[in-house]
Amino acid sequence: MPDLRIAVLGVGIMGADHVARLTSRISGARVVVVNDFLTEKAEAIAAGIPGCRAVTDPLDAIADPEVDAVVLATPGPTHDKQLLACLEHGKPVLCEKPLTTDVESSLEVVKREAELGKRLIQVGFMRRFDEEYTQLKNLLDAGEFGRALVLHCVHRNPAVPPSFDSSMIVKDSLVHEVDVTRFLFDEEIASIQIMKPAVNPGAPEGIQDPQIAIMRTESGKHVDVELFVTTGVAYEVRTELVGEKGSAFIGLDVGLVRKGSPGTWGGTITPGFRERFGRAYDIEFQRWVDAVRNGINVDGPTAWDGYAAAAVCAAGVEALETGLPVDVKMVSRASIPGA
Ligand SMILES: NC(=O)c1ccc[n+]([C@@H]2O[C@H](COP(=O)([O-])OP(=O)(O)OC[C@H]3O[C@@H](n4cnc5c(N)ncnc54)[C@H](O)[C@@H]3O)[C@@H](O)[C@H]2O)c1
Repeated sequence: MPDLRIAVLGVGIMGADHVARLTSRISGARVVVVNDFLTEKAEAIAAGIPGCRAVTDPLDAIADPEVDAVVLATPGPTHDKQLLACLEHGKPVLCEKPLTTDVESSLEVVKREAELGKRLIQVGFMRRFDEEYTQLKNLLDAGEFGRALVLHCVHRNPAVPPSFDSSMIVKDSLVHEVDVTRFLFDEEIASIQIMKPAVNPGAPEGIQDPQIAIMRTESGKHVDVELFVTTGVAYEVRTELVGEKGSAFIGLDVGLVRKGSPGTWGGTITPGFRERFGRAYDIEFQRWVDAVRNGINVDGPTAWDGYAAAAVCAAGVEALETGLPVDVKMVSRASIPGA
């Protein structure tokens, strides 16, 4: 079977990583086109890959007859137009989260894909491919914990860019716990509330950090998430599932614990998401490449999952403002045949 010929749009932090993974660790795929708003960036990356060209216009890159599939690693606000172009050209696409940045355009993308009668869009919620989350999901589905009742999550970053604001903690950080919740529990989130504890004096002026999100699923399961993005310490993502027959914890990040002198013990701190989830991205990409080559196109979170996450985050941003629980507003999945 010939290699899948891929265009990568946006070669910033994520896109450059994805190009490197596709060219060095993923089998059955080649990066043949790269595109970036900053042309010189795309040209520099293309120059390092045999048989790869830089294409200036993202829509031309998608339409290119030598491109079989697309990876979108452009900023969220550009996704809807680029996703619709992928659908128009019938090209499978792995779109970094978010699907789009608002609920309306996410729903539009879901509807347009459903009209085609085949799935082309996978959304880059990579935690579903992480070995610890996969293990937890398998144990849960096998009934090991009985009925799942509660999920406690922690999402901490050492620091965020100065441009980060309070709502981005919901849209960029909490969004992953939103997807984890839907993945583990196989149900939608019905409501969300955001508590605002005392602010970290080390956080940039005006940012509400930390935040505590409390979500309730349709069947009444409770999820709480501590979001704290200016700890100054480490990247920490922890999840504890509590069920009627026991509980389980992932993300302890213990690795090797070394005893040393004088009288110390400890291990290494994971500096960021690329180190913590590097293996998950590799698995995500290999499975996506295999699915596209086999004509299945999607093997992971779908456009619907992207829409659901957008709907919960929109309610989360409203809850951040009001301090009250906000119901998540979503259309029913059954109202869009094929979604
Ligand atoms: N899954 C994850 O864990 C994860 C982590 C970080 C970022 N992301 C997502 O990945 C995407 C990219 O994030 P990033 O951190 O790499 O951002 P970035 O700013 O480092 O890179 C974005 C790149 O896209 C280019 N660009 C901007 N507009 C463009 C356009 N219209 N067409 C083509 N290129 C354009 C920019 O020049 C830049 O090089 C975002 O959607 C972000 O939310 C996902």
